[in-house]
Amino acid sequence: ATIHDQKLERGEGGELHQTAAGKASVLTTAQGGPVSDDQNSLKVGPRGPTLLEDFHFREKIFHFDHERIPERVVHARGYAAHGFFETYKSLAKYTKADLFQRAGEKTPAFVRFSTVAGSKGSVDLARDVRGFAVKLYTQEGNWDIVGNNIPVFFIQDAIKFPDLIHAVKEEPDCAFPQAQSAHDNFWDFISLTPESMHMVMWVMSDRAIPRSFRFMEGFGVHTFRLVNAKNESTFVKFHWKPKLGLQSVVWNEAVKINGADPDFHRRDLWTAIKIGNFPEWELQLQLFDQDFADAFEFDVLDPTKIIPEEILPPVPVGRLVLDRMPDNFFAETEQVAFMTQNVPPGIDFSNDPLLQGRNFSYLDTQLKRLGSPNFTHIPINAPKCPFAHFQQDGHMAMRNPIGRVNYQPNSFGEGPRESAQRGFTPFPEVVEGEKRRLRAESFADHYSQARQFFISQTAGEQSHIAAALTFELSKVKIPAIRERMVSHLLNIDETLASKVADKLGLQKMPKPADAALPTRQDLDPSPALSIVEN
Ligand code: HEM
Repeated sequence: ATIHDQKLERGEGGELHQTAAGKASVLTTAQGGPVSDDQNSLKVGPRGPTLLEDFHFREKIFHFDHERIPERVVHARGYAAHGFFETYKSLAKYTKADLFQRAGEKTPAFVRFSTVAGSKGSVDLARDVRGFAVKLYTQEGNWDIVGNNIPVFFIQDAIKFPDLIHAVKEEPDCAFPQAQSAHDNFWDFISLTPESMHMVMWVMSDRAIPRSFRFMEGFGVHTFRLVNAKNESTFVKFHWKPKLGLQSVVWNEAVKINGADPDFHRRDLWTAIKIGNFPEWELQLQLFDQDFADAFEFDVLDPTKIIPEEILPPVPVGRLVLDRMPDNFFAETEQVAFMTQNVPPGIDFSNDPLLQGRNFSYLDTQLKRLGSPNFTHIPINAPKCPFAHFQQDGHMAMRNPIGRVNYQPNSFGEGPRESAQRGFTPFPEVVEGEKRRLRAESFADHYSQARQFFISQTAGEQSHIAAALTFELSKVKIPAIRERMVSHLLNIDETLASKVADKLGLQKMPKPADAALPTRQDLDPSPALSIVEN
């Protein structure tokens, strides 16, 4: 139908009716019934009251009333694109995962970029971590690498995640700030969580205000395992390197862009892909064995640490190209359900306590957000390889087992069967120990890598970090929180700490936080809080 395939007519009240003509299809209800008049509800006489029997009006309003689903509890604001992953060469030596067996193998991909803290309608250029979630539709089921654009995280144990997110999101009484970390609750939590210092350095750096999604790195963050056909395991860290390189804006620009065009990152991705300027990333792997892990000065299970690329250079293994925008934002970008526990045979988890908790959390959250255990029936979440199981029924079941058999084992010779050879079998790692709520001592150094990150920055970048910390902490009304943050900064870089303390007008320099063994006692859990007026 074209814009001409319709007739404009005027109704008795002067309203315009666009009626079907030419190739234009006839408007129907969701039940398929043709609609005669979509401008006027059914009334007694021209001036009402409106009649309940108007099933078209009732259905239209009913459906509209139910359009919203809960936004993601984190990473609510996002934007996604379709593309493919292409394997450079066989990685059979390391993994039996089918997508890595053959050079040139192309695997369909869907990638969602996001901010973490802001709600669905917040601004694109917030100072925040960016999500970098990749769904690969492999021949052995969906593999989701649910990563960020920063290679470390704020916390070492998933049990802290609700606290972190409560603290970073808007404050519960005033409901602001909506998309920025600049507030008391966030810095209160951070100042009481020394393990977050490395991440905080990254978040205060230019990395947290990327110029566009196309100029961002992505990281799987945790240590994972690759497992080959001989059941040998290699530890791995996943890195996405943008072909365009890394670019950020400065804070001054970010603030202006947010005001002028809060959709800046969306528009950038949409426009680039629509004009055929397809963004591309290289997948690079840091591969290491148990001996390396034992010798490395930090615990490879600690998600607040990186393995420096100088020590362990990443190996390029394939490329990711994004070449098509979704046809419908809600159907695809909003309904896509990423889950860290989606791995094909040949990819496995490590015991990183943050990863272990995430593997639990994502399934739970999809049920809440998408409302049915059948969220894999939504096309964007369905595997693109053959699949067969006996799960059935539930809200919105689109695909139930066909025929008599919906269980196994069965005597009818029907339906799918287990395969010890082809199925996912966890790497048989031997674990033992007492059950305890305890943080490993190997997780205790919270400052060395924060310092390494800071000193790796150019002078200009360092000054941006100092300016960001000053700006952020100047919004904090409680002196004890500002001081606690400076006491952490003293363990990272003294010049940085003095600069920030000076700009904040701190009367006297606090003592450095106890770097050897930071405890809650050191940090005075209940300081007499007073408020700075500014
Ligand atoms: C969503 C990354 C830690 C729970 C997301 C998304 C990303 C992400 C990229 C957005 C997915 C999308 O685009 O739809 C990360 C990274 C983490 C981390 C890199 C740490 C290294 C955690 C932890 C938990 C958690 C520790 C909970 C224990 C969630 C939940 C969602 C989410 C509930 C919302 C999912 C949805 O509704 O679709 N995360 N996350 N995350 N994450 Fe995480």
